[in-house]
Amino acid sequence: MNLIKKILIAPAAVLALWAVTAQATTDEAIAERLKPVGEVCVMGEECKGVGAVAAATGGAPRTGDDIIAKHCGACHTPGVLGAPKIGDSAAWKARATNGVDGLLAHAISGLNAMPPKGTCADCSDDELRAAIQKMSGL
Ligand code: HEC
Repeated sequence: MNLIKKILIAPAAVLALWAVTAQATTDEAIAERLKPVGEVCVMGEECKGVGAVAAATGGAPRTGDDIIAKHCGACHTPGVLGAPKIGDSAAWKARATNGVDGLLAHAISGLNAMPPKGTCADCSDDELRAAIQKMSGL
């Protein structure tokens, strides 16, 4: 009788253990699937996702040359649609009646055929400023 009990209990224990672990992994998998894809960051509070975003975009700000090569040069190298050409300091100076700040304001808002932010939607103001200074020599 004792032996039969042992024979029955052993598989039952294994089965119970299996059921518990199976349930645990399922719960984890569900939690993983239900995890929000993003989190809203409120100004003034610590933002958990920011480090990951900075790492994904390479962290350090891009140089003026990077921005020009990727976004501005297509129009400002050939000077299409009346865009002031890179290095044509006279053309840039004539536009810079309010200095580099004025140029930056127009670059951010867009101006006629010049698209807002010169198509670099994720450019910071500093990155745009660096690109403008490089193109204009101002
Ligand atoms: C699709 C073409 C195009 C791209 C791309 C473009 N520009 Fe321009 N940009 C123009 C044109 C056209 C003008 C002249 C607009 C006018 O005066 O009517 C201009 C003018 C400007 C001016 C002068 C604004 C003023 O106050 O007179 C600045 C500054 C400028 N662009 C910066 C940039 C920067 C920085 C980038 C890249 C991040 C860029 N642009 C990308 C077409 C472009």
